[in-house]
Amino acid sequence: MSAASAESSAGASCWRLAGADLLELTSSARERLATAFAGWLDQLETGLTLVACSRRLTMEPAIPAPMVEAGAAGYPGAALEAARLAHLRSDLELRPRYRRPVFLILPAAGGGEDEIVSQLAQRCQLTGARATGLPALAEGEVREAASALRQGGRWLVSLRLGRLPGVEVEPGWLWTLLEVAAEYDLAIHIRPRPGLAADRHLRRRMRGLRARVLAAGADGGDPRLDAALEAAGRLRRVLATGTGRVFEVAVTVSLGADSLAEARAQERAMRARMDALRGNLLPAWLDQLPARLESVAAVSPARWHLVDTIELATFWPWLDAGRDPSSDVSLLGRHQRTGRPVALDLHSGHQLANANLGVVASSGSGKSYLAGLVGLEAVRRGQLVVVVDPENEHRRWCQAAGGEYLDLSDQPAVGFNIMELGDPGDVPLAAMELVGLLCGPLSTAESGCLLGTLDRLLETPSPSLVLGDCLQPLQATSEGRALADRLRPWVQGSPGGLFSRPGRGPRVRSALGIGIRDLPPSWVPGATLLVSRWLWAWAKSEPGVKQVIVDEAGLLADNPALQTLISQLARRIRKYRGSLMLLTQAAGDLAGGAGEVAAVNSATMMLGGQVAAGALRLQEAFDLDDHQREWLQQAGRGHFLLVSGTRRCPLLVEAPALHHAWLTGQTPAGSAWEPH
Ligand SMILES: Nc1ncnc2c1ncn2[C@@H]1O[C@H](COP(=O)(O)OP(=O)(O)OP(=O)(O)O)[C@@H](O)[C@H]1O
Ligand SMILES: [Mg+2]
Repeated sequence: MSAASAESSAGASCWRLAGADLLELTSSARERLATAFAGWLDQLETGLTLVACSRRLTMEPAIPAPMVEAGAAGYPGAALEAARLAHLRSDLELRPRYRRPVFLILPAAGGGEDEIVSQLAQRCQLTGARATGLPALAEGEVREAASALRQGGRWLVSLRLGRLPGVEVEPGWLWTLLEVAAEYDLAIHIRPRPGLAADRHLRRRMRGLRARVLAAGADGGDPRLDAALEAAGRLRRVLATGTGRVFEVAVTVSLGADSLAEARAQERAMRARMDALRGNLLPAWLDQLPARLESVAAVSPARWHLVDTIELATFWPWLDAGRDPSSDVSLLGRHQRTGRPVALDLHSGHQLANANLGVVASSGSGKSYLAGLVGLEAVRRGQLVVVVDPENEHRRWCQAAGGEYLDLSDQPAVGFNIMELGDPGDVPLAAMELVGLLCGPLSTAESGCLLGTLDRLLETPSPSLVLGDCLQPLQATSEGRALADRLRPWVQGSPGGLFSRPGRGPRVRSALGIGIRDLPPSWVPGATLLVSRWLWAWAKSEPGVKQVIVDEAGLLADNPALQTLISQLARRIRKYRGSLMLLTQAAGDLAGGAGEVAAVNSATMMLGGQVAAGALRLQEAFDLDDHQREWLQQAGRGHFLLVSGTRRCPLLVEAPALHHAWLTGQTPAGSAWEPH
């Protein structure tokens, strides 16, 4: 451990605490947390330091080398897993990423530290444990130069907060500094200032400031003096009215780089960011060693600023909450702000009300691509996937992933026999419904005749019994003759291949796509009834974890069989270890139709590109702030806002090379992956 961090731990207690990424929450959840943080600060009686330690992520041991070569094990899951690991590795090589854990350091204060920390954790929903110290930024002998330190081959440059932000800032503003692509220790020192002493100090400060204002008066005044005077006045009012407390805050940051030039570039980046907020960070000229020690809480800072509780609470440092995903969650892409991989586990039962995923995005936003990626990731994880595909877009990846694609217009190899599908008790009514969809409304006499026929036929169940077997008995009665004539074309020739053919539907091995685009429109209602009966029966009887995907659900809005299936699946598939992913285009669908079913029944939503009116609807429906709404309006292809509980995570959908090749048929340059 470095000399600096060794000193930081002497006599002090250190905790590593993780918390919600404030910038990723709804504005009300953000406000709740900031208020909770302020409440905790208000009770604070001791000084402490929060240190955000940014460290570059390296590949080991976070991401192990692929254990299997693509396709080696013959199972697509193995190839997909190898592709996922390769993707994460190359992503880290291309784009440096940083982990930014936050540590809390309390001076030895004779007990009670655990209580202080557990209060903070409870109020602000933080998790964590005691730590032995901060991770080292550099190790070895320290040598001091005028404007940098040299330690173990690294260069360390320290800066101190010279002026607080001169614009109004919200909790989360610290991200402006934290996001700089660099390794650093950024320490926020906090100490409560007793009311009387603070007031005396403020009075003195105001007197001094007024004198300077007067002196500058002839030249038209200095806005910074005015602002400082106004800030001091406000703090005095806070004290006088008891609406908060006054604290001293100091920020010291030490940047660590492998060359002096790199350290200087990072220093410039960080200073520019503070300048943009009309504050400033000052280089610790000739004072590098003390400043470095400040950045690890080993010594008390040289430069403090007075703030009230609310201002101090804006220094919330937990702004990058993600963990790198393990292999048992679905990798969907990258966090737009932090660059971290974003993964989804729809089946993490205790956290989510259900496993469903609703997607609302305009045409061309990349919904089907996302659906395919969710499907492939489910296959990788050993789940079974069924895609209802109104636009016939999912054939390639279903087949590449070792699955099957049934184009219903193309005489599928397996039969969906209404006489065999689903609960046997429901078969007569289901067959009646199918005949109604094919032949048009039935008269009362026709219904009675058909029901009698079906009951008689089903008395001796046989797998070879099909809808066409009703023809003869119907023909033989005067009430049924006309119906038989209407039914005949449906149970013979090519329609008969679909509507009157033995078979209990397909077996699902990995993925199964069902294409309905090329069916004649008059076939669609009947065909979707068959698919729906099969799908629901499959979802209930298949013991494994299942992902059902209904793409372009809006296109099927006027299809009663599918609507029934969708709401059945949406409400009940969870009980059968299943998840329904429902995709639709228009935010307008949210009021009725597929969008509403998705929105009401999906614990997780993905919102993509929208025109202004659509974005406004989504803003209202999903408690988005203006910034998130604007993001949706500008969202390009593959940009989605992941909505789950109070989380609103801006996601760029990115697939590993093999997944992408299977989804699009395009093999990325220089890649060995071959689309099947
Ligand atoms: N994240 C992505 N990365 C790379 N290519 C993508 C991504 N998302 C979509 N695409 C490509 O963009 C095109 C449009 O995407 P897609 O068909 O998924 O959009 P959609 O929202 O389903 O549109 P529609 O509503 O018209 O069906 C496709 O060629 C797809 O391969
Ligand atoms: Mg699509």
